[in-house]
Amino acid sequence: MRARVIIPAGVALAGAGALAYASVVERNWFTLRQAEVPVLAPGTKPIRVLHISDVHLTPGRKRLRTWLASLDELDPDLVVNTGDSIAHPEAVGPLVDSLGPLLDRPGVFVYGSNDLYAPRVKNPARYLWETSARRYPRTEPDLPWQKLGEAMTNRGWLDANNHRGRIKAGGLDIAVAGVHDPHIKRDRYERVAGPADPAADLRLGILHAPEPRVLDRFAADGYDILFAGHTHGGQLCVPAYGALVTNCAIDRDRVAGLHQHPSADAPAPDGHRAWLHVSAGLGTSPWAPVRFACRPEATMLTLVPRAGH
Ligand SMILES: [Fe+2]
Repeated sequence: MRARVIIPAGVALAGAGALAYASVVERNWFTLRQAEVPVLAPGTKPIRVLHISDVHLTPGRKRLRTWLASLDELDPDLVVNTGDSIAHPEAVGPLVDSLGPLLDRPGVFVYGSNDLYAPRVKNPARYLWETSARRYPRTEPDLPWQKLGEAMTNRGWLDANNHRGRIKAGGLDIAVAGVHDPHIKRDRYERVAGPADPAADLRLGILHAPEPRVLDRFAADGYDILFAGHTHGGQLCVPAYGALVTNCAIDRDRVAGLHQHPSADAPAPDGHRAWLHVSAGLGTSPWAPVRFACRPEATMLTLVPRAGH
């Protein structure tokens, strides 16, 4: 009888400890990841790209704001923000303050669904079964996404939501195309479709949710490297196993980090294969404020020349 009581109590204690760790410690245990991508033409000088995503900022997240504000010291040539920047109606000002001088560097952004729609209480376990884009039940945005966009475009960042553009960064002429969030079916690839400019020094594709149906099109159009977020790296991971879900149609193996699309072991029908960087992001929904075995992150990618002459 006694064992029956003790075991559930032990399990409950371990669960409470894990929850406390996930919500208090790991959620604020920010890390800067680094990756090198051999994507530039031989002989080109490397450039450094800071990838941030899924900040989900609320004004009270002081530690997150302080960490964000430290990133300018890294001296990136270009900043890529793949969306879900805010999670509160009053978050745009704190986000601008936290990004600080990063906004004066060359930059590009897209929106994620959470830049439009305030988080609502829902069963956090839904994250585990909603594995792909669904019919989104809300159509009237209730977060200041336009103010957020203006805060970035006013400082010179390129709005890549269903839009193509050009950026000069690190001495390179960079062709950029992006889409609004495929997770809520706001992507309109047809507006940016067509071969990426072969005369540019580099071709970037930007989107929030790394839905393969959109990644396919960027890769087929000749984009060299694609940036995405949305997955939170799984957010709650199992040590030595990894993410349980990706919250979209990408495979678990590519839930975060640097990979290729199509993946290295899959055929590339038209011969084009792009690099793909998926950020595990910096934040969480305020209603699921936990991360486990999946630290909040930003990434500094150093783009270097491909091998060859
Ligand atoms: Fe997110």
